[in-house]
Amino acid sequence: MTSEFSVRGSRDIVADPSARPETTEAEAVVLFLTEGGVATGAAADLDRATGGLLTRLVAGGEVTGKRFETVPLLAPPGLRTPQLLVVGLGKRDDLDAGTVYKAAATATRQLAARPRTRVALVADGSWTTRQMEQAVAGAAVGMVGQDLYRAERKRTRFGTTVWIGASPEAVERGSIIADGVNLARRLVNLSPEDMYPQTFAEEAAAVAGRTGLEIEIWDEGQLARERCQAILAVGRGSHRPPRLVVLRHRGRAGGDDVPDLALVGKGVTFDSGGLSLKPSESMLTMKCDMAGAAAVLGAAATIAALKLPVHLVAAVGLAENMTGPAAYKLGDVITARSGTTIEVHNTDAEGRIVLADVLDVVKGLGPRRIIDAATLTGACMVALGYDVAGLFTNDQPLCDALAAAARSVGEPVWQLPMYAEYDDQIKSEVADIKNVGEGRWGGAITAAKFLERFVGGIPWTHVDIAGPAFAEKPRPWIDGGGTGSMVRAFVEFARGT
Ligand code: BES
Ligand code: MN
Ligand code: ZN
Repeated sequence: MTSEFSVRGSRDIVADPSARPETTEAEAVVLFLTEGGVATGAAADLDRATGGLLTRLVAGGEVTGKRFETVPLLAPPGLRTPQLLVVGLGKRDDLDAGTVYKAAATATRQLAARPRTRVALVADGSWTTRQMEQAVAGAAVGMVGQDLYRAERKRTRFGTTVWIGASPEAVERGSIIADGVNLARRLVNLSPEDMYPQTFAEEAAAVAGRTGLEIEIWDEGQLARERCQAILAVGRGSHRPPRLVVLRHRGRAGGDDVPDLALVGKGVTFDSGGLSLKPSESMLTMKCDMAGAAAVLGAAATIAALKLPVHLVAAVGLAENMTGPAAYKLGDVITARSGTTIEVHNTDAEGRIVLADVLDVVKGLGPRRIIDAATLTGACMVALGYDVAGLFTNDQPLCDALAAAARSVGEPVWQLPMYAEYDDQIKSEVADIKNVGEGRWGGAITAAKFLERFVGGIPWTHVDIAGPAFAEKPRPWIDGGGTGSMVRAFVEFARGT
């Protein structure tokens, strides 16, 4: 099995700043091309080496450089490689780190369809450091598929990936970022029979050991002593008890011990809906309901491995939402750790109940900011579709900074409103609040309003990743399954902190 963040794993991606693409010996060489951009840089070198082949193909319209177009040129004259794969980056003026990530991933995803010992990619000298890093990350993500349980693999990692013209530092950082994304993807892709609260906690402990994160795991006894009745209620229908994992990275030298940032993740390892049982079709992909926790673990591990100078807390609430004899019921009133009482109207609105306790634990550590990630509502997908994550906040500057970080690495986000009027919808006749709004309209917002009750005024942004966390169908740059959504955004945000 792959283990991200292991030393061996990071050395199969290397920088060769001085190599020349035209003399490189590799089973394939990847060239990135902007629209009409054969005149300069590596494209010009390769064009010359191939006797003007690229110029002719561009003139004839066979190669355009349009975003994510891939054209394999086999047995290119004048080169030592049997394949030159030309990948489009779109218009030069529109080029950003997100485009480079996806273009690199598109190229390697295609090449990884069969085993290869050595593939070279040519970084463009005009790229910024961020673009270089994201290209390296994308390439390392694209070559990993969802083959965890398949004899016949659809993707095989290259033996060695060589980055020509890239700095060793950018390659190192890009590989680490890819480890975070691939970790999150793998945890989501594991069968829920293998990935449940205890095994998630074990994975977290292993990752903590490899990256230097401090870790604390609360089992059901500790959860009870800590009055985490909300997490315990959601987990009661399963024979696999809940867990809460707290990770810490102390990256700031000197100063206070206050966490600059707390990341919080929803880790429902399988969401059957509980007694408010989901229909079969909606249940099929519900192993993805721990994608928020996976993103938080992936980001925390990356932040630690990059040794970012921030104090970070990362906490995930892990539970399996099932229908067993002790399952929590409609009409139950739960006293959350904060003391707030919750009337259960729908056991399928379980994520917010789990997060109520995790947010309260994190609040107690006094972080300057809290960001949570959760596959929280189908309503968010109705609003924004598959690719865009919803943002909800009690602090506009924090939300703006997170949105900017996410967009800068190509993770699309869109903010939804938090008007006070929505609060009325979660009032309960018998408890402080109930766990659903009135009817399904605005369901992503009423869910966020519920979470807001547990952050106690600390600047906070909630990211609903129900859409982007899981790809039911493959995209040119990624196989289906877990996408690692928000890992890169959170890392980028932490770097700006
Ligand atoms: N995990 C689901 C949300 C979800 C749906 C994630 C589709 C990914 C894809 C969540 O626990 C849920 O079931 N939400 C309910 C809330 C409702 C009962 C108020 C929903 O969205 O239907
Ligand atoms: Mn649910
Ligand atoms: Zn759920």
